[in-house]
Amino acid sequence: MSDLSTEIKRRRTFAIISHPDAGKTTLTEKFLLYGGAIQSAGSVKGKASDKHAVSDWMELEKQRGISITSSVLQFEYDGYCINILDTPGHQDFSEDTYRTLMAADSAVMVIDAAKGIEPQTRKLFKVCRMRNIPIFTFINKLDREARDPFDLLDELEREFGIGTYPMNWPIGCGQKFKGVYDREARSVLSFDEFYRGRERIHGIDCDITDTEKLDSLIGENMRRDLCEQIELLDGASSDFDLEAVREGRLSPVFFGSALNNFGIEPFLIQFLKLTSSPLPRIAGGETIDPFDDKFSAFVFKIQANMNKAHRDRIAFMRISSGKFERGKEYFHVQGGKSFRLSQPQQMMASEREVIDEAYAGDIIGVFDPGIFSIGDTVCEKGSKIKFAGIPTFAPEHFAMVEQVDSMKRKQFAKGMNQIAQEGAIQIFFEPNSGLERVIVGVVGVLQFEVLEYRLKNEYGCDLRRSNMNYSQIRWIKNKELDPKNLKLSHDTKWVQDFRGNNLLIFTSEWSIRWVLEDNPGLELLEFNQDDSEV
Ligand code: G4P
Repeated sequence: MSDLSTEIKRRRTFAIISHPDAGKTTLTEKFLLYGGAIQSAGSVKGKASDKHAVSDWMELEKQRGISITSSVLQFEYDGYCINILDTPGHQDFSEDTYRTLMAADSAVMVIDAAKGIEPQTRKLFKVCRMRNIPIFTFINKLDREARDPFDLLDELEREFGIGTYPMNWPIGCGQKFKGVYDREARSVLSFDEFYRGRERIHGIDCDITDTEKLDSLIGENMRRDLCEQIELLDGASSDFDLEAVREGRLSPVFFGSALNNFGIEPFLIQFLKLTSSPLPRIAGGETIDPFDDKFSAFVFKIQANMNKAHRDRIAFMRISSGKFERGKEYFHVQGGKSFRLSQPQQMMASEREVIDEAYAGDIIGVFDPGIFSIGDTVCEKGSKIKFAGIPTFAPEHFAMVEQVDSMKRKQFAKGMNQIAQEGAIQIFFEPNSGLERVIVGVVGVLQFEVLEYRLKNEYGCDLRRSNMNYSQIRWIKNKELDPKNLKLSHDTKWVQDFRGNNLLIFTSEWSIRWVLEDNPGLELLEFNQDDSEV
């Protein structure tokens, strides 16, 4: 039997965040190559030509050739046991993308060197920041024309309000990309064209003081430029501060090219060294130590209908402490019941397999007969842990939804409630309106289609949907306030969620500002953090 503390110490659980096309999938593939989890690149995400690469859980997924659901990839590298939480991007961007970050201990932020910060990077960064988890930046695509690296760092610092510490420094870009300078080793890793496209690239180490060798590798002009930039960097940037990294105040920055596999292994090695093993979690004001031998976990995602024949659901749990053993009896806190998990699953690269044990930091997927909700706690029998809930994130797209056939009221209400409970959509009501008209809010528009598809296929209800032009939502913090007394303009609407919380929906950022100006004392929240300590 493995020693509990050794097993937990070697775990690293993180998410890769990026705007679509920055290179998240390519980077993940390269990580998996190093871990030996996949044999060749191209098998992580189903593209149009390679539809069923990871899952064919949902018909819609197959029709679209995209992966709606995020998966968890586990692999071993250099003694570490690595869990990568895949955050859906593209059209499948949804609240799940945010929630996945609740299960991560750190994040790798991939940035396209030509584009810098993009809208989705911004949104995902905010969530990481809320939890103060360490953020490592990988600036990708240096083999293409790129923005000035000083500019990119400046943008990160200004927009995100964090410090940056370049671990390496690019030498040229595009056609003239020659490699990176490793600041710690004070040496140059040369981008050798010969290895383009190969699985592993072997750079040539060369000391910065070795002028002759450097000139022959990158040319005299580039060597001079590099030396100037290094001098500037060494003089201007702050010292490397591991504590600031661990608290999410300083982001170590790496430059490279995922497609060419350049700079990936050095990045992975440094990242694993600098990031921490599973972090403690808060439960009822108490800190739960991951190394505690009592098992505890929380549900961060519920995935419905992976197997249409059985209409089952899988609840994904992040283990927060101790060790999980298959077949042992555990306690579901919110349900108040003990249960046994006989088919716990783990995602190993592209396959699901039944596992016998798992440790703090790992993610397990368990069959859910409809008992779990997002944020629920599972722990040892007799222990009294209850993790704080997971915040509700602001949807950005809204639609009024009604059932077409008024005879199907019951099915409609059941379907809407269940799908909302899984967290795929959020539902809101106009105060004092009936249940047959519901305002649906989603983070990504694809969720509307998922909703329509599932209500038809699982509950036999056709929907009538009218998209609304609201794009912002805020929770009203002042509980004592009666929203009827608020001064609201025509582009702002008062709605309630199923718990009776009051919210406002707006057509733009501007209207939020106007409402705040017109209603002194009004406090609005971007995340619903009721019952959540993140
Ligand atoms: P994503 O998951 O963040 O959406 O990005 P993904 O890895 O799918 O990469 C988006 C595109 O960028 C892909 O090209 C990929 O090959 C390319 N790419 C990734 N890293 C690099 C890099 O370091 N340099 C260059 N030049 N390109 C890079 P595509 O044409 O859209 O897809 P594909 O047909 O090549 O798979």
